[in-house]
Amino acid sequence: MVFNWGQEKNYVKITSIGTKSSFRGQGLAHKLIETMIDDMKREGMRDFRGETRVTKYPMQKVFSDFNFRCVETFKEYYDNTMEDALRYNLNI
Ligand SMILES: CC(C)(COP(=O)(O)OP(=O)(O)OC[C@H]1O[C@@H](n2cnc3c(N)ncnc32)[C@H](O)[C@@H]1OP(=O)(O)O)[C@@H](O)C(=O)NCCC(=O)NCCS
Repeated sequence: MVFNWGQEKNYVKITSIGTKSSFRGQGLAHKLIETMIDDMKREGMRDFRGETRVTKYPMQKVFSDFNFRCVETFKEYYDNTMEDALRYNLNI
């Protein structure tokens, strides 16, 4: 899910994305983030936020490749698994 709070809050947030398993590892998530950053720059938006589960290492790798900072951990954030959530920020 991607939220564009451009008009109201001036940030974009990515909370859950998925690449079909047979297409993973081909750079598609990187491409999505790159495109979003380009769009945000064009629109003059600077605040990019992300959230993912503590066990989702590929997504954490994607965030870290774009220099997102992990700014917060929400303990037992998800109802179904009681997993922690990591919150990321990128100032564009
Ligand atoms: C997270 C997800 C969307 C990434 O999509 P993708 O198109 O495969 O992503 P990319 O190919 O652009 O990049 C994935 C990176 O993770 C790395 N990676 C794969 N498995 C990894 C692991 N176990 N630990 C760390 N990094 C890992 C890959 O090497 C790649 O990095 P690289 O390009 O520097 O080599 C995909 O794995 C997915 O759909 N996962 C299931 C759902 C999910 O976890 N969604 C995230 C919730 S926000």
